Amino acid sequence: MEVIIQPDKHAAALLVARIIAKELRANPHLVLGLATGKTMERVYQQLVRMHREAGLDFSLCRTFNLDEYVGVPASDPNAYRFYMNRHLFRHVNVDPRNTHLPNGLASDLDEECRRYEASITRSGGIDLQLLGIGRAGHIGFNEPLSALSSRTRVKALTPTTLKQNAALFGGEDKMPRRAITMGVGTIIEARRCLLLATGESKADVIAQAVEGPITSMVTATALQLHPRCTAVVDEDAGSKLKEKEYYRWIFENEPEWESYR
Ligand code: F6R
Repeated sequence: MEVIIQPDKHAAALLVARIIAKELRANPHLVLGLATGKTMERVYQQLVRMHREAGLDFSLCRTFNLDEYVGVPASDPNAYRFYMNRHLFRHVNVDPRNTHLPNGLASDLDEECRRYEASITRSGGIDLQLLGIGRAGHIGFNEPLSALSSRTRVKALTPTTLKQNAALFGGEDKMPRRAITMGVGTIIEARRCLLLATGESKADVIAQAVEGPITSMVTATALQLHPRCTAVVDEDAGSKLKEKEYYRWIFENEPEWESYR
């Protein structure tokens, strides 16, 4: 894994957006894995700005989101489909038919999970997967003890996740208890993974994810197995990393990062 430490949450999100934009320019048919959540809002703001100001073209790309709540219709402001429309899809020239999220209203949820996996495979697999990290260390909704080889399936949300997202639903009692999520195995099959974490509340979990032992208790640790994973953090989220100076040295010296410094 490579770790890039940026001065603040804005610089971190901008760097992630620039990496996505570079990949999209190099391959207009990019299959892009997307995430939702507070952290990603700044990334989408930057992508929308790049579309408007620099003509960043989404017309040929296909997108697959990590997850969707079970039982929440797309018209509900808490649905991840609603989130994606609000923060990205309706502001750029992506073809809505090329945007995919699991259907949390499907009558047969297991069949829906199989269908989602098959449609990722049919698209040729994910080129670049964007990831946030939950306070319990999840990627997607792969809560502690999720198998590191898991595929898209229905997961019960843990108390930590319910607490983390409760405010958005107006209370924990109003939150859905389950979500469909890509599995850890599905995620690490992406050709490139890009993790973004900002803020002090993510400091412990980032230290575990990057420098801790690989464990299904913190599913983000599976990213250590990935041949091409970049974690972008701000100073706050990176504050508990032991090898910060080493990560900074790599970013300053690795030719790949020259245009981003
Ligand atoms: C969302 C997702 C989650 C979030 C994580 C961080 O699609 O898969 O793993 O990325 O919960 O959420 P925020 O950014 O709200 O802290």
